Amino acid sequence: MAALLWRRASDGLALLRASLLGQLLVWVTATLVIVLSINLVLSLRQGNATAEIVTDHMLLGSARMIAEAVHVDGSGTIAADIPPAALEIFNTGYGDRVYYKVTTPWGNIIAGYEGLAEPRQQMVGQNMQFRDMDIRAMAITHPVVGLSEDGLVTVVIAVTRNGQKALRHRLWWSDFVNQSVLVAAAGLVTVFGLRRGLAPVLRLRDAVVASKRERLEPFDPASVQTELRPLVHALNDYMGRVQKQMAAQRRFVSNAAHQLRTPLTLLSTQAAVAAREQEEAARLEALQALTRSTRQVSRLAEQLLTLTRAEPGSRAPRAEHIDMAVIAREVLEAQAVDALQRGIDLGLDAEEKAPVVGDGTMLREMLVNLVDNALRYTPAPGDVTVRLKCVEDHVVLRVEDSGPGIPVSEHDQVFERFYRIIGTKADGSGLGLAIVREVVDGAGGTVTLGSAASGGLAVTVRLPRRQ
Ligand SMILES: Nc1ncnc2c1ncn2[C@@H]1O[C@H](COP(=O)(O)OP(=O)(O)O)[C@@H](O)[C@H]1O
Ligand SMILES: [Mg+2]
Repeated sequence: MAALLWRRASDGLALLRASLLGQLLVWVTATLVIVLSINLVLSLRQGNATAEIVTDHMLLGSARMIAEAVHVDGSGTIAADIPPAALEIFNTGYGDRVYYKVTTPWGNIIAGYEGLAEPRQQMVGQNMQFRDMDIRAMAITHPVVGLSEDGLVTVVIAVTRNGQKALRHRLWWSDFVNQSVLVAAAGLVTVFGLRRGLAPVLRLRDAVVASKRERLEPFDPASVQTELRPLVHALNDYMGRVQKQMAAQRRFVSNAAHQLRTPLTLLSTQAAVAAREQEEAARLEALQALTRSTRQVSRLAEQLLTLTRAEPGSRAPRAEHIDMAVIAREVLEAQAVDALQRGIDLGLDAEEKAPVVGDGTMLREMLVNLVDNALRYTPAPGDVTVRLKCVEDHVVLRVEDSGPGIPVSEHDQVFERFYRIIGTKADGSGLGLAIVREVVDGAGGTVTLGSAASGGLAVTVRLPRRQ
C-alpha cells in the first residue's frame, strides 16, 4: 500500500517536472512555503516581544502604585497599605496570580512574600520561577516621604505568565493570518500570471497538433512573446520546406501520370488496329508497333522506379567498394549490340582500376542512362566513347559522342525531371539526366555538361576516389 502510494506520488512528481507550467508552479509554491515559514518564526518572536513589553508596563505601573502607598506612620514605622488597584490591574481573565514584596532600605520585609527573589536589574522585566510557576517579575526602588534622603524602599512585583502567553498567542496568530492572506494572494496572482504568460505557448502547441492542419498555414509570430518568435519563424520555415516538397511530389506524380497516359492510349489503339487487321503482313506490323510501345511504357516505369530509388532517404545508404572500370566494361558489353544496330562505334578508354565507394546498382544505372542518351541522340555513322581515369583524389568519367550536343542555355534544364529539349525526335521520358544527377549527388560527386572534341556532347562525372 505504502509502496503504491509512493509510486503514485513519484509518478505525479515526474509529470509535474516534465511540464513547464508544473515546474514553474513547483518553484512558486516552494518560494511561498519558505516565505511563510520565515514569517511564522518572525511573527512568533514579534508577538512574544510585544507581549513582554505590555506585561512590563503593567508591572511597572503596579510597582509604582505600591511604592507610592508606602509611608511612615505616626509611630515612625514604615507601613505599606497595598492599593487593590495595583493587583487588580492583572486581572485580565486568565487566572493570573500576583506576588509582591516590599523591602525597607535595611532589608526588612514590610509586606508580601518572603521567598520572592529580586530580579537582577531594576525596572526591567525578567522571567523567573516562583513556587514552580512561570512568572515575570520587576523590581523598582522608590523614596519614602518621611525617611532620610537615601531611604529607598524596594518593591518587587511578579505575575504568572498566563495572560502574557495568551496575548503573545493572539498577537502571533493575527499577524500570521494577515501575512498568510498576503502570501496566498501573491501566490494566486503569480499562478494567474504564469497561466497567462504561458497561454501563447499552449495555444501554439494546440495549433501545431490540431488535426485540421493539412494546409500548413504559417503561424503569426506576433501571437507569441518575443523569446518564442525565433521558434515560430523556424517552424514556419520548416513548414514552407515541407510544403515545397509536397508540391514537387504532386507535380512529379501528375507528370508521371501524363507520361504514362500517352503511350497507354497509343497501346490500346494499336491493339485495336491489330485485332481488326485481316491481312497477315499488316497485322504483324501492327503487333510490332504494339511491342515497341509496350517496351516504351515498361522503360518509363523502370525509369520512374530508378529515380525514386535514387532519391535521398528512399533506400538505406550503401557504401560498397565499387570499381567503376568493371561497371563501365559491363555496361558497354551490354550496349554493344544496340550500338552496332544503330551504326555507332562504341568505345571504352579506361584505366585498370577506378575505385569508388557507393551504391553499385545506382552507379550502373547512371552510366546506362548516359550511354543510352549518347547512342540515342547520335546519328549514324557516329562515335560514342566512355573514358575513365583517376585524377588526384577523383575518378573522372566522361561520356563523349559525335551527336548534335546540347546548347549551353539548356544545360541546367535538361537535368530537370521530365524535361526534354523541344524537337527531340527519339522517344524518351526526360528522366535519364535527372536520374544521373540524383545518383551523382548521392555519391558525393558532380556532373557537368560540355562539348566533345567531335562537336557532340561530353558529360563529365567526378566521383570521390576510394583511397
Ligand atoms: N547525348 C546527348 N546528345 C544530345 N542531346 C541529349 C543528349 N543527352 C540528352 N540530351 C537531351 O537532353 C534531354 C533530356 O535527356 P534525358 O533526361 O536523358 O531524357 P530523355 O532521354 O528521356 O529525353 C533529351 O530529351 C535530349 O534532348
Ligand atoms: Mg535519356
